[in-house]
Amino acid sequence: MNTRTAVITGAAGGLGQATARQLLAAGFDVVAVTRDAGSAREARQVLAAQAAGRTVHALHTDLVDRAGVLALGAQLRNLVGHVDVLINNAGAAFAGYAETADGVERTHALNLLAPLHLTHVLLGAGLLAPTARIVSISSDLVTRGRVDADNPDVTGTSWRSRFPQLAVYGSAKLLGILATAALADRLPADMSAYSATPGVIRTGFNAKSGGILKAVAAVGGLFAQAPDKAARTPVLLATSRITPSPNGGFFAKGAPADPPKPARDPVLAANVYERCVRELGVSALPPRANAGLS
Ligand SMILES: NC(=O)c1ccc[n+]([C@@H]2O[C@H](COP(=O)([O-])OP(=O)(O)OC[C@H]3O[C@@H](n4cnc5c(N)ncnc54)[C@H](OP(=O)(O)O)[C@@H]3O)[C@@H](O)[C@H]2O)c1
Repeated sequence: MNTRTAVITGAAGGLGQATARQLLAAGFDVVAVTRDAGSAREARQVLAAQAAGRTVHALHTDLVDRAGVLALGAQLRNLVGHVDVLINNAGAAFAGYAETADGVERTHALNLLAPLHLTHVLLGAGLLAPTARIVSISSDLVTRGRVDADNPDVTGTSWRSRFPQLAVYGSAKLLGILATAALADRLPADMSAYSATPGVIRTGFNAKSGGILKAVAAVGGLFAQAPDKAARTPVLLATSRITPSPNGGFFAKGAPADPPKPARDPVLAANVYERCVRELGVSALPPRANAGLS
């Protein structure tokens, strides 16, 4: 495995494209995943112009639906021999309640379930390199998230009758931290998984989201960082020579950070992971014997 390959979802622009650019500069071949054919073509063109001898591929799929995740897995099987880095960056904070074709609330489908599903699909296909690193993009808005420790709602359908946008988005990302922590305890020994919060970024995210996020975009924009700066944490997790520790941890500003209290509960993490994989219909990975020691 001489070439190292990074797959980045949500690479049409914003944080995903900045991350892809920096991973190319770090010597990775890159697969930029976008939502549609037009944005895939554009992303490939922009990234190829900065590839400095590395290979750029672009694929497109709609990750809100499980069929889209499976289609991406099949495309990757045909395209690359191995994946060294997976950056689960695609995300959105929808302004209202709607369910996907799979009967899941959209924010939870895209931000929580799709990253875990894609990871299991790649693992099942034998595409993850033995030392693969999986980085899932989180958010500072996890502080707005809620999780019922006795009955964590990984489908988001409990938000059907009342939909506070920030709390729903924060909850999906908070559950994502828990699922990532449990995943890290179950991956083969030399693989790792992390959650990375980029801070507030100057992208189209808030305006596209609509709702209260669109309203705060103008004010938030004053404090927002450029995507290239925000990419520092995921890029560091993907590229650092020494495997970042703790495996399964939450990272901010390039260093381990404390997520909100509910996200530090390993029993809850295991419960969230089990519920997610059951919902997705994929086989649960058993915890490793030495899990939690790294
Ligand atoms: N902006 C912030 O202040 C901020 C703060 C904390 C965390 N984040 C997180 O950072 C990540 C990147 O966000 P960003 O700020 O760079 O905004 P962005 O430019 O909107 O990036 C999100 C990406 O996800 C893609 N995406 C959305 N829905 C998709 C779907 N159904 N299928 C496939 N791809 C889909 C978008 O594609 P389209 O372009 O086609 O919509 C876009 O490329 C997200 O996970 C977000 O939650 C952002």
